[in-house]
Amino acid sequence: MSKTIYFIANWKMHGNYNSIKEIQKVLNFLKKKTTYGFKKIIFCPPLNLLSYFEKKIRNKLIDFGAQDISKVNLNYGPYTGQLSGKMLKDVGANYVIIGHSEKRILDEDNVTIKKKINSALKNKLKIIFCIGENISQKKMGLSIKILKKQISQSLEKKIVNFDNIIFAYEPIWSIGTGIVPANDYLNKIYKKLNIFLKDKYKVKTPIMLYGGSVTPDNVASLGNISLISGFLIGGASLKAKSFIKIIKNYYI
Ligand code: 13P
Repeated sequence: MSKTIYFIANWKMHGNYNSIKEIQKVLNFLKKKTTYGFKKIIFCPPLNLLSYFEKKIRNKLIDFGAQDISKVNLNYGPYTGQLSGKMLKDVGANYVIIGHSEKRILDEDNVTIKKKINSALKNKLKIIFCIGENISQKKMGLSIKILKKQISQSLEKKIVNFDNIIFAYEPIWSIGTGIVPANDYLNKIYKKLNIFLKDKYKVKTPIMLYGGSVTPDNVASLGNISLISGFLIGGASLKAKSFIKIIKNYYI
């Protein structure tokens, strides 16, 4: 059986109500295609747009996710500025991005990430768990060590259903820079991650994505990395034109 390939659009702090037309164009593209094989298209717009987009688009060809969740593991409470997993579910999210480097830089450490993961799982949200090293860590040969640490300090061993966790390897030096790691480098990283997740967490088949400057021009080459199950896409996901170019080779 062929594996599911994920194309996840992380819109970050971009978009307005008008941007729904970009998702509608993607939907129109998908409707014309046969969907043999397993593909998942997930849009993660900013939260102010999520509910509106989800309600207008609601369609099994496109799913939705949020970009953050509160670390407070409660449904409701006196926590100004927080949004619980239950609230995210209520506005139509089935996924949530946790551990993105742009969030880690602001206010998210591994302990916070662990709390968010537990809160998301309790609310039956699937997690897009981002990990990645910075350029100086890479230069010092510490990449895999950093990735293992990010995982170990945030993920409890008792998590049994790894179908609900999508690992997204996003080297920080590649995000928004146009620099994409060589396939040799990525192959090594994914092989090591695969072994680590199987040994330590007994994950049968880890779902591992790549993120960082994915474009229509490099997606085919990145797709040759056998352990990758898809992509987390920032800039190139904002316009339907480039997003469709990225996914189109995967649709008949
Ligand atoms: P870019 O595709 O813009 O490099 O962003 C990648 C990313 O951070 C996705 O989460």
